[in-house]
Amino acid sequence: MEKLALLGGVPVFSEKAPEELFRWPIITKEDEDAALDVIRNNKFSATDITTKFQEEFAAYQGTKYALAFTNGTMSLTAAMFAIGLGKGDEIICTTKTYWATIVPAVAFGAKPVFCNIDDMMSMDLEDMERCITPRTKAIMVVHYFGYPCDMDKIMAIADKYNLYVIEDVSHAQGGLYKGKKLGSFGHVSAMSMMSGKAFAAGEMGMLVTNERRFYERAIAFGHYERNNANFIKESEDLKPYMHIALGGQKGRVNQVCAAIGRVQLKYFDERCAEIRRAMNYFWDLLDGLPGIRGVRVDESTGSHMGGFYCPHGVYFPEELGGLSLHRFCEAVTAETGGVFISWEGANFCLHTHNYFKSFDYFHEGENVGAAFDAERLKPSEKKYCFSVPWFKRLDKAWIEKYAAAFRKVVENHTQLLSGDTDSKQGGRWHGVENEETQQK
Ligand SMILES: Cc1ncc(COP(=O)(O)O)c(C=O)c1O
Repeated sequence: MEKLALLGGVPVFSEKAPEELFRWPIITKEDEDAALDVIRNNKFSATDITTKFQEEFAAYQGTKYALAFTNGTMSLTAAMFAIGLGKGDEIICTTKTYWATIVPAVAFGAKPVFCNIDDMMSMDLEDMERCITPRTKAIMVVHYFGYPCDMDKIMAIADKYNLYVIEDVSHAQGGLYKGKKLGSFGHVSAMSMMSGKAFAAGEMGMLVTNERRFYERAIAFGHYERNNANFIKESEDLKPYMHIALGGQKGRVNQVCAAIGRVQLKYFDERCAEIRRAMNYFWDLLDGLPGIRGVRVDESTGSHMGGFYCPHGVYFPEELGGLSLHRFCEAVTAETGGVFISWEGANFCLHTHNYFKSFDYFHEGENVGAAFDAERLKPSEKKYCFSVPWFKRLDKAWIEKYAAAFRKVVENHTQLLSGDTDSKQGGRWHGVENEETQQK
């Protein structure tokens, strides 16, 4: 049995990989020139470049319309306005996602209703269906960590109950479900394109839809240049209210980002394909090990993970003698000499956040998250995941080293069992550094 580095053994490696293995986004002179053109010609607030980008993105996405926003949060908020989310409506979402997927619903007076996740951290569809009430207006789907949700089933449930579907594609741009782009199933879809995402264009969001009325409402919510009665073809009810952004927001994107987005789009598919080759190679090396499984999809079904944003594995402690996720991650980190920090989990489940327990948004003496049953959501708190390196290149030698670090810990996990007193089982609130202020 090889001694684990955490217990004083020799790490699998401790040198740094070449920077290109992880660098993202890939910025070339073409991106720089596009951005400089906007800066030198003071085109920040114009819309000519954005319009072109929207057309190109809609064609890429396979939807009739694409509308760029300042960020993903704003595009999701506009998507909610587009479907007419309003006071007293309920909108179902998984409890495991970034807050921006669902918190904007609160400002419309709607109630987020959380459902459980399954082993792949994706929507548990039976539980989702149980959450439907006469007040349910929409299902908010998130392809978390790029894993495609089962859109056939979701759309069938939505049809059955006459509900809208919004897809949050922030983790899954370019990904496919049975051969069709994620983001082209829901009535409206929206996504982040901030600099850390798989589709990274600085700081931007994008809304896509096939339906004119949703597109018109999204523009009316917070865009200027077409916000006039001539533009309205289907949303007649909005006509008397034009010229003012109905959502009280300004969503126009800075054209430096639109210009970079245009260049990124040209190379996006080929770069994603390389990432998928690398990430699938990594997970193939670990296939069959107990306790860990890659968050990835069987590509022979025609589905795939796009750019494998924020790749994670899922963790089953019962297959590793009950080893805590925290200690597992510490041991993996040690096997890389600290070069790669494997951190446990994603954000905690949203229903456990104080915001949903006690924040009184409307000063009405009731909290915003009254419409969920915390007991029912306990199973989601026991779904564990851990981060893995996000390889951008198929550099087999380096990927093998990283995989060997994970393999060594799994194969020698019994060494870690005694002294594993850790009761924390993973997660954090993104952006909160101080353990004390983490609420779990
Ligand atoms: C799933 C998800 N939805 C929405 C957002 C919000 O996007 P943005 O940061 O561009 O506003 C993010 C993260 O940034 C996200 O991860």
